[in-house]
Amino acid sequence: MNILITGGGGFLGQRVARALLAQGDTVNAKGERVPIRRITLMDISEPANGVKDPRVHFVRGEVSNHGAVAEALGLDTGGVFHLAAVVSGQAEADFELGMRVNLDGYRVVLESCRKAGNRPRLLFASSIAVFGTPLPEVVTDATTPTPQASYGVQKLIGEWLTADYNRKGFIDGRAVRIPTVSVRPGKANAAASSFASAVIREPLNGVEYKCPVPPETLMWMCSPARVVANLVRAFELPSEAFGDLRAVSLPGIVVSVAEMVDSLRRLGGEAAAARVRYVKDERIQAIVRTWAARLETPRALAMGFTADATMDEIVAQYIRDENIRV
Ligand SMILES: NC(=O)c1ccc[n+]([C@@H]2O[C@H](COP(=O)([O-])OP(=O)(O)OC[C@H]3O[C@@H](n4cnc5c(N)ncnc54)[C@H](O)[C@@H]3O)[C@@H](O)[C@H]2O)c1
Repeated sequence: MNILITGGGGFLGQRVARALLAQGDTVNAKGERVPIRRITLMDISEPANGVKDPRVHFVRGEVSNHGAVAEALGLDTGGVFHLAAVVSGQAEADFELGMRVNLDGYRVVLESCRKAGNRPRLLFASSIAVFGTPLPEVVTDATTPTPQASYGVQKLIGEWLTADYNRKGFIDGRAVRIPTVSVRPGKANAAASSFASAVIREPLNGVEYKCPVPPETLMWMCSPARVVANLVRAFELPSEAFGDLRAVSLPGIVVSVAEMVDSLRRLGGEAAAARVRYVKDERIQAIVRTWAARLETPRALAMGFTADATMDEIVAQYIRDENIRV
């Protein structure tokens, strides 16, 4: 089976590719486990130390370019992970770019899948940013999404398009609303949520960190390993598992920034925790304030998706994966 990962050079794209290569096979349209022959990673930029494997091909290209996507997809791709996106802070700062990549780009991917004619299985990476104010105390599977930033609007439209292309039989489409993933290694990105990684990562690497939101800020979180396992599961579940509702909110844990720093203190020591200072950034706060942080996800749990146990587990994963000396 051949698989296309858009945004394949990114944080999750690289990890999903590694996870698929490690398991070696995946599920085809008939529900049979078949070997993965090729993974095409499509992205505008190639990562410096990207996945190296004879089954992996990197294609430089824009998701908003019909020719480039059609070529990367070909006529024999059985599965697509659509992960390419302009993240929340950038989509808010550059309206045209967000619309072009997150909305028009996804339409190009969907149209290419439709025209390929083989009804590929397509997983769309949505986000809990589809939920915005006014918010109930707890967001449930029945809460109507009301995004309050362009990124969330683009993700919600993506979910609806996934459902409609699925209904028409053009794809076997499914979408997952991803919690904030932490700890993201490397440099901070333009996501408004990037503090949820940086508040752990920078102090553990000996760097002072100015946190743009107050300690009581709550986030719905999961670790990279957990979200990758859930993405692969979402891709492999039979179509009937999603039924008429093609999007599902993934499980996570609700953590305050103060609790993140407590975990940092327990696992990284007092000196690491002392590197965090709170310096308000009104632009970031204005976005984060509209996000859902407390969710109940019984549907996802019944579908076999899982959450991390604690914030300590999330921090420990980062320390282990990045060989941080504490
Ligand atoms: N990481 C999170 O916390 C999180 C949370 C919710 C949703 N998501 C979603 O999951 C997906 C993957 O997120 P990530 O954390 O790996 O982000 P990322 O920024 O690391 O990866 C996205 C990739 O898309 C690529 N890209 C951007 N514009 C492109 C274009 N025009 N054409 C082709 N590629 C393009 C980028 O170069 C990047 O490598 C995204 O859709 C994101 O919105 C992530």
